[in-house]
Amino acid sequence: MCGIFGYVGNRNDGQKLVFSGLKSLEYRGYDSWGVGVIPEESKNTIAIKKKVGKIGNANVSDLPGGSLSFGHTRWATHGGVTDANAHPHLDCSGTIAVIHNGIFENYEEIKKGLLRKGHKFVSETDTETLTHLLEDFSKDKPFAEAVRAAFNRMDGLNAVIAVSAKENLLVAARNGSPLVIGFGKNENFLASDASALLPYTRDVYFLEDNEMAVLAPGKVTILNVKTAKEITPKRKRLDWKIEQGEKGKYKFYMLKEIFEQPQIITDIAVSGASQAEEIAKKIKDARGTYLVGCGTASYACLAGSYLFSKLAKRHVNFAIGSEFGYSLDFLNKDSLVIAISQSGETMDILESVKKAKDKGAKILSLVNVPGSSLYRLSDYKMLIGAGQERAVASTKAFTGMVAHLVLLANSLNGGVKEGQKSLMAAVKSVNQILSLKSLRKIKELTSRIVDKKHIYVIGRGLSYPASLETALKIKEISYIHAEGLAAGELKHGPLALIEKGTPCISFLPNDETYGSNLAGAMEMKARGGYIIGISHKPREVFDYYIHVSDAGESSIIPEVIVAQLLAYYLTIKKGLDPDKPRNLAKSVTVK
Ligand code: G6P
Repeated sequence: MCGIFGYVGNRNDGQKLVFSGLKSLEYRGYDSWGVGVIPEESKNTIAIKKKVGKIGNANVSDLPGGSLSFGHTRWATHGGVTDANAHPHLDCSGTIAVIHNGIFENYEEIKKGLLRKGHKFVSETDTETLTHLLEDFSKDKPFAEAVRAAFNRMDGLNAVIAVSAKENLLVAARNGSPLVIGFGKNENFLASDASALLPYTRDVYFLEDNEMAVLAPGKVTILNVKTAKEITPKRKRLDWKIEQGEKGKYKFYMLKEIFEQPQIITDIAVSGASQAEEIAKKIKDARGTYLVGCGTASYACLAGSYLFSKLAKRHVNFAIGSEFGYSLDFLNKDSLVIAISQSGETMDILESVKKAKDKGAKILSLVNVPGSSLYRLSDYKMLIGAGQERAVASTKAFTGMVAHLVLLANSLNGGVKEGQKSLMAAVKSVNQILSLKSLRKIKELTSRIVDKKHIYVIGRGLSYPASLETALKIKEISYIHAEGLAAGELKHGPLALIEKGTPCISFLPNDETYGSNLAGAMEMKARGGYIIGISHKPREVFDYYIHVSDAGESSIIPEVIVAQLLAYYLTIKKGLDPDKPRNLAKSVTVK
């Protein structure tokens, strides 16, 4: 979702640096972008360039040079996708600019007052209200104080960057949406994502909720937004690798990330065992454990509930992040919430985890981004270790999450070695899927179904979350309507939708669901469905067969990797960009 990058320092081409910072935030998903700079030649003004669409081959060579610059990638919430609605936004005098991530919930009433005072609005955004409010407040207050006062008037979860040309100052404030300060030598940076800072500095401070930072040349001051009390920041050193972000031989990040999976799962199998055994103790001690995630991560959680039941004979509840907050009144200090998230910044997860914490529950997080908000607020932390995931649709983070859950569930019954073995069987199966022969088979299938309007996917047991994830991958990036179902539910409605030629993907792994799944495939076939069987052995009922060798309880991993490839090739066939699907964002930092 919206990306923020800011620079205050001694370079006089800060706008170029900010522009390249924005490029590294592109993966978060956005629909327009903008860069602002205080020109070296004309210090009392702010120059701005903003545009709808992707950055692509654009540049900022038409912007003047300056040593204080800031930029934004916007994912529209209030107001359509237009140049005028893109950030930064200026006040009436053109000397104050704002960029913003989040939703300014009470902007309407404040805007009315500002309109009455004669302020001229040029966009439909909630953000612009803040620029005019700052214009008013800064008439009788130093700028940083005006930002603090204005931020305290804002309801909602927000991250804000406000710039004053008159004071040559950049002020950032956070409540909800992430912001990280990077400390350099005579220069300081700010971004919504620490990975964007890596090319410049590893010395960072993650701004906490209700903190603000005042960045002047050579100086950063951190304050509590409510009390104005100065805070001494506990800086962190980022020891992350700079991901060779580049796609290398792959045309798209998604394909690169799909191919990274055998290595990631192997690494988890080899080095995740002792951590899993340690964390399993926490689960054992808890009275009531809840797995919570959003999107793809929610399907990893659902898979986890089956794994814990099957392997550890333990009831672990599952909830979607956006719903958990409404059904957690029963939590208490003995409860354990296992929050799973690639980014660690998904607002729906953060919100419900905070509510769970208020009830006294302990939080265990399984996240991919170290230092993320979820990671920081957890009592116990596990890293997925999938490396930076840049394609919007999650692939390697999902299989990484499942791999950790396989180890955890096995550890609970003292059998972590079994878990390792089953993960290595999954790696073997995945390597077969990634062979040229198998890739050809998956590509060929796409030609047969690319023009279809609807695809149905069925499974039972662990293949049920696999079906949901398959459908999600297909719709996210190829824009074909796909529905994942528990096979048993077919007869309760969806069967009415199956007609001659409807693609029906059936998962038939080598487990106790085999017979019933087969029956489901036959029921769809009897209604004319075109049956795509994903299984360890072919059957007559299949119109198209994709082989997935058996990996026991880890079979969901290769099953989903077939689905990732199918979605990817469908998208390529339709000439779409699998890395940046329309309307979606990688890091969903608003509710
Ligand atoms: C977005 C992404 C999905 C992801 C979901 C949850 O919708 O596009 O790929 O599964 O957010 O994100 P998280 O970072 O919490 O795993």
